[in-house]
Amino acid sequence: MKVLNYGSLNLDLVYHMEHFIRPGETFGATRLDKFPGGKGLNQSIALARAGARVYHAGNVGPDGEVLVETLRNAGVDTNLIRRVEEVTGHAVIQVDSRGDNSIILYAGANAQVTSDQIDRVLEEFARGDYLILQNEINLVGEIMDKAFDKGMIIVLNPSPMNEEIRKLPLEKVSIFLLNEIEGEELTGKREPDNILDELLARYPRARVVLTLGGKGSVYGDGEERIQQNIYKVEAVDTTAAGDTFTGYFISTLIRTGSCREALDMAARASALAVSRQGAAPSIPALEEVRAAAGGIQEM
Ligand code: RIB
Repeated sequence: MKVLNYGSLNLDLVYHMEHFIRPGETFGATRLDKFPGGKGLNQSIALARAGARVYHAGNVGPDGEVLVETLRNAGVDTNLIRRVEEVTGHAVIQVDSRGDNSIILYAGANAQVTSDQIDRVLEEFARGDYLILQNEINLVGEIMDKAFDKGMIIVLNPSPMNEEIRKLPLEKVSIFLLNEIEGEELTGKREPDNILDELLARYPRARVVLTLGGKGSVYGDGEERIQQNIYKVEAVDTTAAGDTFTGYFISTLIRTGSCREALDMAARASALAVSRQGAAPSIPALEEVRAAAGGIQEM
């Protein structure tokens, strides 16, 4: 079975700041790092590092070859990435002294997906293959419709959350992975259980994974709920922690069929990602996640 991730590729410019910049303020950064990133690229790398056979589809501009190379080096198939004239997508990221981030996104080439491209990409996939999507490219709804018609299993991480998400054919999603804030915006509910109840009432076929920051995560479907704690580490940079969680959850679920094991591996891997700088470079390899088992302390 193949895994297609149709998603963004970004160049991340990471400014280390004592605090996030305020309106009207001019304030110096203590450091600038440049990393490969984008929710799509990060999730493809996490999927591959966790052992899945991943194909990444998306667009880069003339300045984006470094991103294609990063994916290739991680073992991701990059033959479905198209080169366009538009500048590559990028993110301007502030990381503060607590490791929290705030992100400005410029879609660039990520917004150049076309119907023809979708048709060509999906020709390579069949019933039962997985499709992973986030919300940093255009035509997400069309990709979902066409993939659903083929019988692909659709996984949606509705991030970043905006009005476009509500317009998507969400009833075609098999697995949602989202955080508490996204869950609240989507359902209007506040408590994790209420968010899960509401999502499962609306989409009874779906499985839902809700991440709760320091409170861990919770999985729900029509039959069961599973609670997962976080593994505690010193936070250096939270960028891509959610993407690492998504990639490890899906990859482990495909490999083992166990939601419980998938949640645990995702929690371990995202803890390691939080303890390291950057987006893609912070995503651990499977051996590191297994080896860290005794070294990261469950809350
Ligand atoms: O989820 C983290 C990612 O969000 C960053 O790599 C940045 O590119 C933005 O897309």
